[in-house]
Amino acid sequence: MNFLRRGIRSAASAVQSRSGCQLYSSAVAGGCERTLVAVKPDGVQRRLVGEIIKRFEQRGFTLVGLKLLQASEGILAEHYHDLRRKPFYPALLRYMAAGPVVAMVWEGHNVVQTSRAMVGDTDSSQAKPGTIRGDLSVHISRNVIHASDSVEGAEREISLWFHSGELISWETSDQSHLFQG
Ligand code: PPS
Repeated sequence: MNFLRRGIRSAASAVQSRSGCQLYSSAVAGGCERTLVAVKPDGVQRRLVGEIIKRFEQRGFTLVGLKLLQASEGILAEHYHDLRRKPFYPALLRYMAAGPVVAMVWEGHNVVQTSRAMVGDTDSSQAKPGTIRGDLSVHISRNVIHASDSVEGAEREISLWFHSGELISWETSDQSHLFQG
């Protein structure tokens, strides 16, 4: 009987020590992914960083990288390379360099697609209520947040904005140790 109880307990702690991302991804289709999310200078100026982090945490995603930085011209030119011929490109780069940005890497099941849905339409005036842009912004040129649009794009953007040593993998665990001693 004790043997059985020990077996149940160790199976439970094995489940608890795996991240939610791994648990979900082993059960259903879709991947355990990472994505780049950046609070743009207007979002930082408007003190929206906490609100945005709260939404990703509450959704169940895991923060694995976070930094406040003044983005260089080089990083912005690389990040928006595909848009370099768009008429709005110079204004976009000026806007993104106008103040600090908070860059984050979030991990979770299908996080790329889900975070795009959470962020809402690129054009804030079209973004649905309940989305970040639909709740927090009104114009495409000040749309508060960036989120990678594909798994491949996320990999490229994460390696542009973060060194591998700045990303920390951590696992959801039994939190009782936090309340001991
Ligand atoms: S496009 O034209 O379809 O390729 O552009 P889109 O995919 O909708 O948006 C790509 C990024 O460009 C930003 N964008 C703009 N910034 C400033 N002014 C205007 N008019 C504008 N139109 C698009 C848009 O916010 C996207 O930036 P990120 O950082 O990816 O959200």
